[in-house]
Amino acid sequence: MIIFGIDTSCDDTSVALLEDGKRILSNIVSSQVDLHRLFGGVVPEIASRKHIELIENISRGAIEEAGITYQNIDVISVTAGPGLIGSILVGLCFAKGLSLALNKPLIGINHIQAHAVSIFLEREVDFPFIALVVSGGHTVILLMESPLRFKVLGTTRDDAAGEAFDKIAKYLGIGYPGGKIIEEYAEKGQKDYVRFPRPMINDNNYDFSFSGLKTAIINYIKKYGVTTQNINDILSSFQEAAFDVLTLKTIRASREHDIKRIVVGGGVASNSRLREKFLETGQKENIEVIFSSPHFCTDNGAMIAVLGYFYFKEGIVSPLDVKGYSRMMLH
Ligand code: KG4
Ligand code: ZN
Repeated sequence: MIIFGIDTSCDDTSVALLEDGKRILSNIVSSQVDLHRLFGGVVPEIASRKHIELIENISRGAIEEAGITYQNIDVISVTAGPGLIGSILVGLCFAKGLSLALNKPLIGINHIQAHAVSIFLEREVDFPFIALVVSGGHTVILLMESPLRFKVLGTTRDDAAGEAFDKIAKYLGIGYPGGKIIEEYAEKGQKDYVRFPRPMINDNNYDFSFSGLKTAIINYIKKYGVTTQNINDILSSFQEAAFDVLTLKTIRASREHDIKRIVVGGGVASNSRLREKFLETGQKENIEVIFSSPHFCTDNGAMIAVLGYFYFKEGIVSPLDVKGYSRMMLH
Protein backbone atom coordinates (compact mmCIF):
# COMPACT_ATOMS: atom_id res chain seq x y z
CA MET A 1 0.00 0.00 0.00
CA ILE A 2 1.50 3.33 -1.06
CA ILE A 3 0.84 6.55 0.84
CA PHE A 4 1.56 9.98 -0.59
CA GLY A 5 2.49 12.38 2.26
CA ILE A 6 2.48 16.16 1.84
CA ASP A 7 3.57 18.85 4.30
CA THR A 8 3.44 22.57 3.51
CA SER A 9 2.82 23.79 7.07
CA CYS A 10 5.63 26.35 7.16
CA ASP A 11 8.51 27.13 4.81
CA ASP A 12 9.41 23.66 3.51
CA THR A 13 7.60 22.02 0.61
CA SER A 14 7.81 18.34 1.52
CA VAL A 15 6.51 15.30 -0.30
CA ALA A 16 7.14 11.61 0.41
CA LEU A 17 6.02 8.21 -0.77
CA LEU A 18 5.81 5.49 1.84
CA GLU A 19 5.13 1.82 1.24
CA ASP A 20 3.29 -0.30 3.84
CA GLY A 21 4.00 2.26 6.56
CA LYS A 22 7.69 1.36 6.59
CA ARG A 23 9.62 1.66 3.37
CA ILE A 24 10.38 5.22 2.25
CA LEU A 25 10.34 5.23 -1.55
CA SER A 26 11.15 8.93 -1.73
CA ASN A 27 11.20 11.88 0.68
CA ILE A 28 11.87 15.31 -0.84
CA VAL A 29 12.15 18.43 1.31
CA SER A 30 12.56 21.66 -0.61
CA SER A 31 13.66 24.37 1.79
CA GLN A 32 12.77 28.02 1.24
CA VAL A 33 15.37 29.15 3.77
CA ASP A 34 17.36 31.17 1.24
CA LEU A 35 14.28 33.24 0.39
CA HIS A 36 13.29 34.00 3.99
CA ARG A 37 16.85 34.57 5.24
CA LEU A 38 16.75 38.05 3.73
CA PHE A 39 13.98 38.92 6.21
CA GLY A 40 15.39 37.06 9.24
CA GLY A 41 12.27 34.89 9.47
CA VAL A 42 9.48 33.26 7.51
CA VAL A 43 7.29 35.70 5.58
CA PRO A 44 3.91 33.90 5.33
CA GLU A 45 2.81 35.42 2.00
CA ILE A 46 6.12 34.57 0.33
CA ALA A 47 5.98 31.04 1.77
CA SER A 48 2.51 30.31 0.35
CA ARG A 49 3.41 31.67 -3.08
CA LYS A 50 6.55 29.54 -3.18
CA HIS A 51 4.59 26.42 -2.19
CA ILE A 52 2.24 27.08 -5.13
CA GLU A 53 5.23 27.31 -7.48
CA LEU A 54 6.91 24.18 -6.14
CA ILE A 55 4.26 21.66 -5.13
CA GLU A 56 3.57 20.12 -8.52
CA ASN A 57 7.21 19.69 -9.53
CA ILE A 58 8.26 18.36 -6.14
CA SER A 59 5.41 15.85 -6.29
CA ARG A 60 6.37 14.70 -9.75
CA GLY A 61 10.00 14.45 -8.58
CA ALA A 62 8.96 12.27 -5.63
CA ILE A 63 6.89 10.00 -7.90
CA GLU A 64 9.80 9.61 -10.34
CA GLU A 65 12.32 8.96 -7.59
CA ALA A 66 10.03 6.28 -6.15
CA GLY A 67 9.83 4.64 -9.60
CA ILE A 68 6.01 4.62 -9.62
CA THR A 69 3.17 6.54 -11.29
CA TYR A 70 0.35 8.58 -9.75
CA GLN A 71 -1.96 5.58 -10.43
CA ASN A 72 0.01 3.50 -7.89
CA ILE A 73 -0.93 5.81 -4.99
CA ASP A 74 -3.47 4.28 -2.59
CA VAL A 75 -3.95 7.07 -0.04
CA ILE A 76 -3.16 10.79 0.16
CA SER A 77 -2.10 12.10 3.55
CA VAL A 78 -1.66 15.82 4.07
CA THR A 79 -1.05 18.30 6.90
CA ALA A 80 -4.33 20.08 7.71
CA GLY A 81 -2.83 22.08 10.60
CA PRO A 82 -1.46 23.65 12.67
CA GLY A 83 0.85 26.06 10.88
CA LEU A 84 0.72 29.04 8.54
CA ILE A 85 -2.78 28.88 7.14
CA GLY A 86 -1.91 30.16 3.65
CA SER A 87 0.86 27.58 3.33
CA ILE A 88 -1.29 24.76 4.68
CA LEU A 89 -4.07 25.53 2.19
CA VAL A 90 -1.68 25.07 -0.74
CA GLY A 91 -0.81 21.49 0.27
CA LEU A 92 -4.37 20.72 1.32
CA CYS A 93 -5.94 21.93 -1.94
CA PHE A 94 -3.33 20.07 -3.97
CA ALA A 95 -4.07 16.90 -1.97
CA LYS A 96 -7.83 17.33 -2.48
CA GLY A 97 -7.27 17.71 -6.23
CA LEU A 98 -5.20 14.52 -6.29
CA SER A 99 -7.77 12.66 -4.24
CA LEU A 100 -10.54 13.65 -6.65
CA ALA A 101 -8.51 12.98 -9.79
CA LEU A 102 -7.22 9.58 -8.63
CA ASN A 103 -10.39 8.66 -6.74
CA LYS A 104 -8.31 7.74 -3.68
CA PRO A 105 -8.99 8.55 -0.01
CA LEU A 106 -7.69 11.70 1.64
CA ILE A 107 -6.50 11.98 5.23
CA GLY A 108 -5.99 15.38 6.91
CA ILE A 109 -3.21 15.17 9.49
CA ASN A 110 -2.24 17.09 12.63
CA HIS A 111 1.38 18.15 12.05
CA ILE A 112 2.34 17.98 15.75
CA GLN A 113 0.97 14.46 16.11
CA ALA A 114 3.02 13.54 13.01
CA HIS A 115 6.22 14.82 14.69
CA ALA A 116 5.33 12.63 17.69
CA VAL A 117 5.07 9.47 15.58
CA SER A 118 7.88 10.19 13.06
CA ILE A 119 10.04 7.76 15.05
CA PHE A 120 8.05 4.87 13.47
CA LEU A 121 9.81 5.64 10.19
CA GLU A 122 12.94 4.22 11.82
CA ARG A 123 11.90 1.79 14.55
CA GLU A 124 9.04 0.40 16.61
CA VAL A 125 8.21 1.94 20.00
CA ASP A 126 5.76 0.46 22.52
CA PHE A 127 2.80 2.55 23.68
CA PRO A 128 2.18 4.43 25.86
CA PHE A 129 4.99 6.96 25.69
CA ILE A 130 5.56 10.61 26.51
CA ALA A 131 6.35 12.71 23.43
CA LEU A 132 8.08 16.07 23.46
CA VAL A 133 7.62 17.95 20.19
CA VAL A 134 9.96 20.90 20.16
CA SER A 135 10.16 22.93 16.97
CA GLY A 136 9.96 26.44 15.54
CA GLY A 137 6.20 26.61 15.93
CA HIS A 138 5.46 24.31 18.86
CA THR A 139 6.68 23.11 22.22
CA VAL A 140 4.29 20.42 23.42
CA ILE A 141 4.35 17.46 25.80
CA LEU A 142 1.93 14.71 24.74
CA LEU A 143 0.92 11.46 26.35
CA MET A 144 0.66 9.11 23.37
CA GLU A 145 -1.72 6.21 24.02
CA SER A 146 -1.59 5.06 20.41
CA PRO A 147 -0.60 6.77 17.14
CA LEU A 148 -4.13 8.18 16.96
CA ARG A 149 -4.98 8.83 20.62
CA PHE A 150 -3.12 11.35 22.70
CA LYS A 151 -3.54 13.81 25.53
CA VAL A 152 -1.89 17.23 25.60
CA LEU A 153 -0.10 17.49 28.96
CA GLY A 154 1.54 20.88 28.40
CA THR A 155 2.36 23.48 25.82
CA THR A 156 4.17 26.79 25.51
CA ARG A 157 2.39 29.87 26.79
CA ASP A 158 4.28 32.19 24.42
CA ASP A 159 7.26 31.53 22.13
CA ALA A 160 8.13 28.01 21.00
CA ALA A 161 11.68 26.92 21.90
CA GLY A 162 12.87 27.04 18.27
CA GLU A 163 11.30 30.47 17.90
CA ALA A 164 13.46 31.72 20.80
CA PHE A 165 16.55 30.37 18.99
CA ASP A 166 15.49 32.08 15.77
CA LYS A 167 14.71 35.43 17.45
CA ILE A 168 17.96 35.55 19.42
CA ALA A 169 19.93 34.76 16.25
CA LYS A 170 18.02 37.48 14.42
CA TYR A 171 18.82 39.99 17.19
CA LEU A 172 22.51 39.09 16.98
CA GLY A 173 22.41 39.17 13.17
CA ILE A 174 24.11 35.77 12.93
CA GLY A 175 21.71 34.19 10.44
CA TYR A 176 18.48 32.28 9.94
CA PRO A 177 17.23 29.79 11.03
CA GLY A 178 18.93 30.29 14.37
CA GLY A 179 18.89 26.79 15.86
CA LYS A 180 21.78 25.15 14.06
CA ILE A 181 23.82 28.40 14.03
CA ILE A 182 23.42 28.93 17.79
CA GLU A 183 24.36 25.30 18.39
CA GLU A 184 27.65 25.86 16.54
CA TYR A 185 28.54 28.92 18.66
CA ALA A 186 27.42 27.21 21.87
CA GLU A 187 29.66 24.21 21.26
CA LYS A 188 32.67 26.53 21.68
CA GLY A 189 31.28 28.26 24.76
CA GLN A 190 31.37 27.81 28.51
CA LYS A 191 28.16 26.29 29.83
CA ASP A 192 26.42 28.42 32.47
CA TYR A 193 28.95 31.23 32.08
CA VAL A 194 25.84 33.29 32.83
CA ARG A 195 23.16 31.62 34.91
CA PHE A 196 20.03 32.59 32.96
CA PRO A 197 16.57 31.93 34.42
CA ARG A 198 14.85 28.57 33.92
CA PRO A 199 11.26 29.76 33.37
CA MET A 200 8.49 27.67 34.95
CA ILE A 201 10.88 24.86 35.81
CA ASN A 202 9.37 24.22 39.25
CA ASP A 203 5.76 25.07 38.39
CA ASN A 204 3.20 22.40 39.03
CA ASN A 205 2.27 21.92 35.36
CA TYR A 206 3.90 20.82 32.10
CA ASP A 207 3.73 24.17 30.34
CA PHE A 208 6.65 26.21 29.03
CA SER A 209 7.50 29.86 28.48
CA PHE A 210 10.50 30.96 26.41
CA SER A 211 9.73 34.59 25.74
CA GLY A 212 11.16 35.83 29.08
CA LEU A 213 14.32 33.79 28.61
CA LYS A 214 14.78 35.29 25.15
CA THR A 215 14.37 38.79 26.65
CA ALA A 216 16.87 37.96 29.42
CA ILE A 217 19.49 37.04 26.79
CA ILE A 218 18.81 40.19 24.76
CA ASN A 219 18.95 42.39 27.89
CA TYR A 220 22.25 40.80 28.90
CA ILE A 221 23.68 41.54 25.47
CA LYS A 222 22.40 45.14 25.63
CA LYS A 223 24.02 45.63 29.02
CA TYR A 224 27.37 43.89 28.55
CA GLY A 225 27.78 43.95 24.78
CA VAL A 226 28.77 41.06 22.61
CA THR A 227 32.29 40.15 21.56
CA THR A 228 33.74 37.30 19.54
CA GLN A 229 34.77 35.87 22.95
CA ASN A 230 31.58 36.05 24.96
CA ILE A 231 29.07 35.23 22.19
CA ASN A 232 29.90 31.52 22.51
CA ASP A 233 29.50 31.63 26.30
CA ILE A 234 26.20 33.56 26.18
CA LEU A 235 24.69 31.20 23.61
CA SER A 236 25.93 28.13 25.45
CA SER A 237 24.37 29.50 28.66
CA PHE A 238 21.10 30.14 26.79
CA GLN A 239 21.05 26.53 25.56
CA GLU A 240 21.66 25.24 29.09
CA ALA A 241 18.72 27.24 30.45
CA ALA A 242 16.27 26.31 27.66
CA PHE A 243 17.30 22.65 27.62
CA ASP A 244 17.18 22.26 31.42
CA VAL A 245 13.53 23.27 31.35
CA LEU A 246 12.67 21.04 28.38
CA THR A 247 14.48 18.06 29.88
CA LEU A 248 13.33 18.34 33.47
CA LYS A 249 9.67 18.99 32.72
CA THR A 250 9.44 16.14 30.21
CA ILE A 251 11.22 13.75 32.56
CA ARG A 252 8.83 14.83 35.33
CA ALA A 253 5.84 14.13 33.08
CA SER A 254 7.25 10.68 32.47
CA ARG A 255 7.84 10.01 36.17
CA GLU A 256 4.49 11.36 37.33
CA HIS A 257 2.56 9.31 34.76
CA ASP A 258 4.73 6.27 35.39
CA ILE A 259 5.54 5.99 31.69
CA LYS A 260 9.23 5.27 31.43
CA ARG A 261 9.62 6.02 27.74
CA ILE A 262 10.11 9.40 26.07
CA VAL A 263 10.23 10.19 22.35
CA VAL A 264 11.62 13.58 21.33
CA GLY A 265 10.88 15.09 17.92
CA GLY A 266 10.73 18.42 16.05
CA GLY A 267 13.55 20.56 14.63
CA VAL A 268 15.13 21.50 17.99
CA ALA A 269 15.48 17.78 18.77
CA SER A 270 18.32 17.64 16.25
CA ASN A 271 20.45 19.67 18.71
CA SER A 272 23.24 17.51 20.08
CA ARG A 273 23.35 19.24 23.49
CA LEU A 274 19.61 18.63 23.99
CA ARG A 275 20.10 15.00 23.03
CA GLU A 276 23.01 14.67 25.46
CA LYS A 277 21.09 16.24 28.37
CA PHE A 278 18.05 14.03 27.79
CA LEU A 279 20.05 10.84 27.49
CA GLU A 280 22.08 11.64 30.65
CA THR A 281 19.02 12.52 32.75
CA GLY A 282 17.02 9.62 31.33
CA GLN A 283 19.75 7.18 32.27
CA LYS A 284 19.88 8.48 35.85
CA GLU A 285 16.11 8.13 36.19
CA ASN A 286 15.92 4.81 34.39
CA ILE A 287 13.79 6.28 31.60
CA GLU A 288 14.33 5.32 27.97
CA VAL A 289 14.75 8.39 25.77
CA ILE A 290 14.41 7.96 22.01
CA PHE A 291 15.32 10.48 19.30
CA SER A 292 14.63 10.39 15.57
CA SER A 293 17.56 10.90 13.23
CA PRO A 294 18.05 14.66 12.70
CA HIS A 295 16.55 14.65 9.16
CA PHE A 296 13.31 13.15 10.53
CA CYS A 297 13.23 15.71 13.40
CA THR A 298 12.78 18.63 11.01
CA ASP A 299 9.66 18.90 8.82
CA ASN A 300 9.25 16.16 6.23
CA GLY A 301 6.51 14.49 4.20
CA ALA A 302 7.39 10.97 5.39
CA MET A 303 6.11 11.66 8.92
CA ILE A 304 2.79 12.84 7.44
CA ALA A 305 2.62 9.64 5.39
CA VAL A 306 3.36 7.38 8.38
CA LEU A 307 0.59 8.96 10.46
CA GLY A 308 -1.74 8.64 7.45
CA TYR A 309 -0.85 4.95 7.36
CA PHE A 310 -1.94 4.52 11.00
CA TYR A 311 -5.28 6.24 10.30
CA PHE A 312 -5.91 4.24 7.16
CA LYS A 313 -5.18 0.98 8.99
CA GLU A 314 -7.97 1.89 11.41
CA GLY A 315 -10.31 2.68 8.50
CA ILE A 316 -10.33 6.41 9.26
CA VAL A 317 -10.24 8.84 6.32
CA SER A 318 -11.27 12.50 6.00
CA PRO A 319 -14.14 14.02 4.03
CA LEU A 320 -13.13 15.95 0.94
CA ASP A 321 -14.17 19.20 2.61
CA VAL A 322 -11.70 18.74 5.52
CA LYS A 323 -10.69 22.21 6.74
CA GLY A 324 -7.23 23.65 7.23
CA TYR A 325 -6.50 25.20 10.65
CA SER A 326 -3.70 27.38 11.97
CA ARG A 327 -3.83 26.48 15.67
CA MET A 328 -3.50 23.12 17.31
CA MET A 329 -6.74 21.16 17.61
CA LEU A 330 -6.98 19.43 20.97
CA HIS A 331 -8.48 15.96 20.87
O1 KG4 B 1 10.28 21.00 13.05
P1 KG4 B 1 10.80 22.16 12.26
O2 KG4 B 1 11.60 21.86 11.02
O3 KG4 B 1 9.64 23.11 11.81
C1 KG4 B 1 8.53 23.44 12.61
O4 KG4 B 1 7.57 22.63 12.67
O5 KG4 B 1 8.64 24.51 13.26
O6 KG4 B 1 11.67 23.06 13.28
C2 KG4 B 1 12.35 24.21 12.89
C3 KG4 B 1 12.95 24.85 14.13
C4 KG4 B 1 13.59 26.22 13.89
O7 KG4 B 1 13.15 27.11 14.90
C5 KG4 B 1 15.08 25.94 14.02
O8 KG4 B 1 15.83 27.06 14.49
C6 KG4 B 1 15.08 24.81 15.03
O9 KG4 B 1 13.96 24.02 14.68
N1 KG4 B 1 16.30 24.00 14.93
C7 KG4 B 1 17.20 23.87 15.93
C8 KG4 B 1 18.24 23.08 15.41
N2 KG4 B 1 17.95 22.74 14.13
C9 KG4 B 1 16.74 23.31 13.84
N3 KG4 B 1 17.21 24.37 17.18
C10 KG4 B 1 18.27 24.08 17.96
N4 KG4 B 1 19.32 23.35 17.53
C11 KG4 B 1 19.35 22.81 16.28
N5 KG4 B 1 20.38 22.08 15.89
ZN1 ZN C 1 7.21 20.84 12.29
